[in-house]
Amino acid sequence: MLKVGFIGWRGMVGSVLMQRMQQENDFSKILPIFFSTSEVGNICNINNSKLLDAYNTDALMELDCIVTTQGSEYTNQILPVLRGRGYTGYWIDASSALRMQDDTIIALDPVNYDQILLGLKSGIKNYAGGNCSITLSLLGLSGLFKENLIESMSMMTYQSASGAGSQNIRELLNQMMYISDKNSNLINDTNTPILELIKQVNHTISHTDFPQKEFGAPLAGSIIPWIDSDLNNGMSKEECKGGVEANKILGLAPQTVKIDGLCIRVGAIQSHCAAITLKLNKNLSILDIEEKIKNSHKWVNYVPNNKIDSLKSLTPAAVCGSLKIAVGRLRKSSIAENTYTVLTVGDQLLWGAAEPIRRMLNIVVSYLK
Ligand SMILES: NC(=O)c1ccc[n+]([C@@H]2O[C@H](COP(=O)([O-])OP(=O)(O)OC[C@H]3O[C@@H](n4cnc5c(N)ncnc54)[C@H](OP(=O)(O)O)[C@@H]3O)[C@@H](O)[C@H]2O)c1
Repeated sequence: MLKVGFIGWRGMVGSVLMQRMQQENDFSKILPIFFSTSEVGNICNINNSKLLDAYNTDALMELDCIVTTQGSEYTNQILPVLRGRGYTGYWIDASSALRMQDDTIIALDPVNYDQILLGLKSGIKNYAGGNCSITLSLLGLSGLFKENLIESMSMMTYQSASGAGSQNIRELLNQMMYISDKNSNLINDTNTPILELIKQVNHTISHTDFPQKEFGAPLAGSIIPWIDSDLNNGMSKEECKGGVEANKILGLAPQTVKIDGLCIRVGAIQSHCAAITLKLNKNLSILDIEEKIKNSHKWVNYVPNNKIDSLKSLTPAAVCGSLKIAVGRLRKSSIAENTYTVLTVGDQLLWGAAEPIRRMLNIVVSYLK
């Protein structure tokens, strides 16, 4: 049986990966070995084994495949050491560390299974999951990508707190508690003038004690207009990832499909939205586009563009925990010819992170059988 090491399995993405692997009985096909960067020797709650040291390269060299949901820093530190020592096993990674390297395939098998298979046959050993937002939108709009209909996309994302990691989700909830604890009297007193209530809540949010160590700014009652590092060219790293990764996943030359936009952190708990202005290379009716989106694969949930269906099915809360990508708000835009608006909403921990990794591991297992 394939010896597979898991690093980062108790984090946000790792926990969802473990859950999905248990649901799909994936552990029966491999020999799993669990590691930690901080809790070596503690008991793993998946198989009651003792956690091994994730920095022990001797132990890692023994593995046929390493699945890491630990983060870029870990990958950048450990993988070069392993490859330098002649490690020839598979490395499957949720972080962005390797995505744009030539010897790495970004795995999103409903979109690029042929590319993955070709990679396996040609001896490529590094596979990465893609950026969560672009992955979800690629899946949602795959019916249009497949037919090369998309010329460009302006993509404005609304990304949930859990996209930033397990510590951040706790911080958002602490921020919410802080606001309600400090203002409960005013909130419950319906005689409080509304402007006074707003002023006091804003005062609470800007207080120096407001919990914001992880995010670096208030998220509850606000938004954070920057995700990931500053590329010092006006762009955040998160914004840059969308365009470059999408073209690579699609097997296209850089900039073939032009993608740009702003990435915003919002106070949703889980699931990311992307409000997209699509420029197609031909004029299609809404019905044509709807059919192409609906018929692309089984994970799309097309939501009719009306208020009742949108409020019911096109929100982060509605898709949280589901493998379906909700696609809605589709209409012609008035700003230019062949231009349309659309909103994609998907669980960034499932299809946006853990599921492509889980499926990639299964592809490796089947390939090596
Ligand atoms: N979150 C997302 O939606 C998302 C989506 C796509 C890609 N990614 C990428 O996936 C990678 C992992 O992201 P993540 O969001 O899963 O990070 P995370 O929740 O912060 O977990 C990363 C690691 O933090 C350690 N950790 C420390 N304290 C913890 C605690 N109280 N609970 C759980 N884990 C704790 C764990 O490692 P030890 O057990 O070794 O201590 C864990 O594996 C990153 O590269 C990220 O960019 C994330």
